[in-house]
Amino acid sequence: MIVNLTKILNKAKKEHYAIPHFNINNLEWAKYILEICNEKNIPVILGVSEGAAKYMGGYNTISAMVNGLIKDLNIKVSVCLHVDHGTSTESCIKAIDAGFSSVMIDASKYELEKNIAITKEVVDYAHERGVSVEAEVGHIGGTEDNITNSSTNATLEECQMLYENTKIDALAPALGSVHGFYKGEPNLDFETMQKINDILPIPLVLHGGTGIPDDKIEKAIACGITKININTDLQVAWSKAVRQYLSENKDVYDPRKIISSGENAIKERISQIITLLKTKEES
Ligand code: 13P
Repeated sequence: MIVNLTKILNKAKKEHYAIPHFNINNLEWAKYILEICNEKNIPVILGVSEGAAKYMGGYNTISAMVNGLIKDLNIKVSVCLHVDHGTSTESCIKAIDAGFSSVMIDASKYELEKNIAITKEVVDYAHERGVSVEAEVGHIGGTEDNITNSSTNATLEECQMLYENTKIDALAPALGSVHGFYKGEPNLDFETMQKINDILPIPLVLHGGTGIPDDKIEKAIACGITKININTDLQVAWSKAVRQYLSENKDVYDPRKIISSGENAIKERISQIITLLKTKEES
């Protein structure tokens, strides 16, 4: 069943565990994630960046594909179909109209006032349709969709202002995590994370889940993080397996064999991540 973020994150927040957000890149990615999460009976968030949406054809194609997979594979767990880093109101509206159950509006590159105005526009449209909204404050840097940005940490006041003025459903405060690979140890501001969690009633989101040591992931969950975004990690696991398969099978040309040679590697990483996040089974 397709659900919004609120449906799965509020329970996670109350019971101190996290739900994985895995970015999808193609049909196979979505299929493997849905299959393993269904097998483990855990809810999952499928994140779609604007770049990935463009690659796959657009939001309508993805919505039809995910709905089709849920039906054909008999997926019983809750699935949230979520836009990752939507850059404009128009982009979020397109996804909502195509059947996405959740959107992230990322207006964090603007000053707070403009971030609030854009986020509020999206919330108004989304909430009328039962769609949840995540927003970002401060700015999460690193590399995603081949775009590299620098980071600015969020302040407690900015988080409070963004929430009070928009009534978003989940907040991604930039607190030291980055997209893609880390240079050295990630330096997460757990103190501010805890304070934000103490004053805001909504779930918190950690972007840049790849490369954060296990103990820091556990600490982030203890400080109120309930959604952890993971993208690069699965890409690395998949490409490593595919590279090995191709080097051992020089004559293979069937794309189904090539792409699915990374299936087990993706599923294994997902299983490990679910254990780390302590994601609870659905009843
Ligand atoms: P990573 O690619 O670092 O796992 O980050 C994913 C992410 O935060 C998507 O929004």
